Amino acid sequence: MTQDAQTIIDESFKRLIKTYAPQPVVLDRGEGVYVYDTDGKKYIDFAAGIAVAALGHAHPKMLDTINKQAARLMACQASYATQEKLDCAKLLTDNSCFDLVYFANSGTESVEAALKCARKWAHDEKGEGCNEIITFRNSFHGRTMGSASITEKFHSQPFFGPYLGGIKWAQFNDLESVKALISDKTAAIILEPVQGEGGLSPATPEFITGVRALCDEQNIALIFDEVQVGMGRLGTFMAYEQFGVEPDIGAWAKGMGSGFPVGCMMAKKKFGAALVPGTHGTTYGGNPLACAVAHTVMSEILSDGFLTRANEIGAFLMEGLKDLQRESNKIIDIRGTGLMIGMDTTIEIAQLIGALQQNGLMTTQAGAKTLRLTPPLTITKDEAQEALDIIAQTLKEEE
Ligand SMILES: Cc1ncc(COP(=O)(O)O)c(C=O)c1O
Repeated sequence: MTQDAQTIIDESFKRLIKTYAPQPVVLDRGEGVYVYDTDGKKYIDFAAGIAVAALGHAHPKMLDTINKQAARLMACQASYATQEKLDCAKLLTDNSCFDLVYFANSGTESVEAALKCARKWAHDEKGEGCNEIITFRNSFHGRTMGSASITEKFHSQPFFGPYLGGIKWAQFNDLESVKALISDKTAAIILEPVQGEGGLSPATPEFITGVRALCDEQNIALIFDEVQVGMGRLGTFMAYEQFGVEPDIGAWAKGMGSGFPVGCMMAKKKFGAALVPGTHGTTYGGNPLACAVAHTVMSEILSDGFLTRANEIGAFLMEGLKDLQRESNKIIDIRGTGLMIGMDTTIEIAQLIGALQQNGLMTTQAGAKTLRLTPPLTITKDEAQEALDIIAQTLKEEE
């Protein structure tokens, strides 16, 4: 690392509130599936901002949209309609099971909107005091107070408490544990179809189907948090399509803007209609620039052959990793769907991520010990092979 890069890290560390531990690299620019640091070193980006850069870096269609829309109109009061907001909402509802859209700026905001929507619906539908939310052990839903309240790991940080009341904890993939918590006060059940931060644990089809049936029987809102796994990450536009059930309410962000901060909450009509003027909103939500960019990104994800190709590369990567597993006793488990792949190894996770980075591959950690691979959905076979070669080499080098 050059002295300049070290200075940027040190000087930043002095000035920033230390919510993140510093990384030993200063990123400078990105192009396609690659990012470059300030020393000019090139990395294949299998972190992609943690499953964010769906179209990779500096995608020409995104750049064109940003330039044109920034020159036209970037901001307007959230209460105004714009062509961009309409187009974006139409694309979302035309390509999902939902009728109504609420635009937000991040994942946690989309989750907050989903919680408020479900509680308001339950209040109107089932009465005052019907406000309980069932969430899951090992979940992750974001860091604002509502999202943190339904995220298990934040309950080990009692200094932020008291957290939201009315939260109940079930075991993921254990339908009986959900049934045991249901009462006439249950407003909603919220789950991640694949627990991302929790270590890439997928819900079983039986579990998801069972939860859907329970919600139908008991008149409970079913919320899917698709912030990490939606928008093509699992190989279908919406993550719920993988499971053959439809949630009532959902939350999206990350890949939706492929790096531009935008998110949304969507709901079926009877749930979404519960939120009325004065109950929720945000200054930036649905701004013309964010909507124009999200529209471009999602149109690309939905374009002919895009997801078929992404799935082919996902299968190619899985095959390649399985081949490595046959050759190396250091790989314990490989799992994943589409272009969201997790790998557990015998190597200490921080050490492995550091060594991969040193060898030119950016990755992230999920859970206590899982290596998470979430490349741009635009990745080619050659680029995937390049990443596999780096993983193979690193596994050989590391003890
Ligand atoms: C499933 C899930 N929900 C919510 C969030 C929060 O999103 P954001 O960091 O954009 O607030 C995340 C972020 O990792 C996530 O994975």
